[in-house]
Amino acid sequence: MLKFNDKVVIVTGAGGGLGKAYALAFAERGAKVVVNDLGGGMTSEGGKSSRAADLVVEEIRAKNGIAVANYDSVEEGEKIVQTALDNFGRIDILINNAGILRDKSFTRTSDIDWDLIHRVHLRGSFLITRAAWPHMQKNKFGRIIMTSSGAGIYGNFGQANYSAAKLGLVGLSNTLAIEGKKYNIKCNSIAPVARSRLTQTVMPEDILDVLKPEYVSPLVLYLCHEDTEETGSLFEVGGGWVGKVRWQKSSGAIVKKGDSMTPEDVKSKWTEITSFTNPIYHASIGEATNHCISSSSGDSPSSSDSSDSLESKFKY
Ligand code: NAI
Repeated sequence: MLKFNDKVVIVTGAGGGLGKAYALAFAERGAKVVVNDLGGGMTSEGGKSSRAADLVVEEIRAKNGIAVANYDSVEEGEKIVQTALDNFGRIDILINNAGILRDKSFTRTSDIDWDLIHRVHLRGSFLITRAAWPHMQKNKFGRIIMTSSGAGIYGNFGQANYSAAKLGLVGLSNTLAIEGKKYNIKCNSIAPVARSRLTQTVMPEDILDVLKPEYVSPLVLYLCHEDTEETGSLFEVGGGWVGKVRWQKSSGAIVKKGDSMTPEDVKSKWTEITSFTNPIYHASIGEATNHCISSSSGDSPSSSDSSDSLESKFKY
């Protein structure tokens, strides 16, 4: 059984939906949980309330679990981390989950619709993760989850603001996985599908019935366990199904002729450029850049020597 005894977990937006399921599941397996939620409306309008977080804390304590509430916005990430330190003396696991929606078709998206979404999802995750990071570095242990979305991976009508922020979180997670490696800090992203107040107005009831948040939390717990080595990955998860997502590219084509390259040359190679018959997968920026450079110079693109030396240029 995967246990979390003595581990301190912050779950943001844990007053309902997915966050609540994570908080209950971690507490059930022995973790000390900071249940963060500002208890606001779905679009960040309306009042705030401590009730959502308090109810989850009560539920955890009723089952003999350990939890404290925090009512700050993720935009005040330092205060949430401070709650973990004040109550439990450390922070081991951070689940960036808090979220809102402000769906509008692109032309109707106002500055405030754009900014609020970015402030809560992307900047909020950045601020609280930056506050937790030095403690994880010092402890040589950290597990972080970023919550992305299918809207970010594939796009979705009416969600330009949300899609941009959600794919931004994958980029953030990818870089934190690299920077966290030597400190045993693992960072992964999930794109969940689950019943919550965010989805109950846009999905039919019979579909929502099979999308329990409890079908997402087992992946989150697995990724955050001390024995799990997975990092820098993105998973789609929902309804009991889990799959890993990665970028792939076509094997492409050399388009330039000698030193010249024209739009007509691109046109003439378009079938090869866009064919996924022999896809390529690169796991790092070094590998990807090396492939580009060595393909165009006629070297073997998979030469690991040049890949390694180029990769080292991207490290700091
Ligand atoms: P939810 O609305 O039930 O939960 C989000 C929670 O975050 C709410 O309790 C809310 O009060 C809290 N929150 C909002 N702004 C906050 C802030 N500034 N600081 C602290 N807490 C704040 O929604 P759900 O579905 O559980 O969403 C959880 C996460 O999963 C979100 O990031 C959402 O974008 C993401 N997601 C959910 C999907 C789904 O199918 N339910 C699909 C794709 C992504």
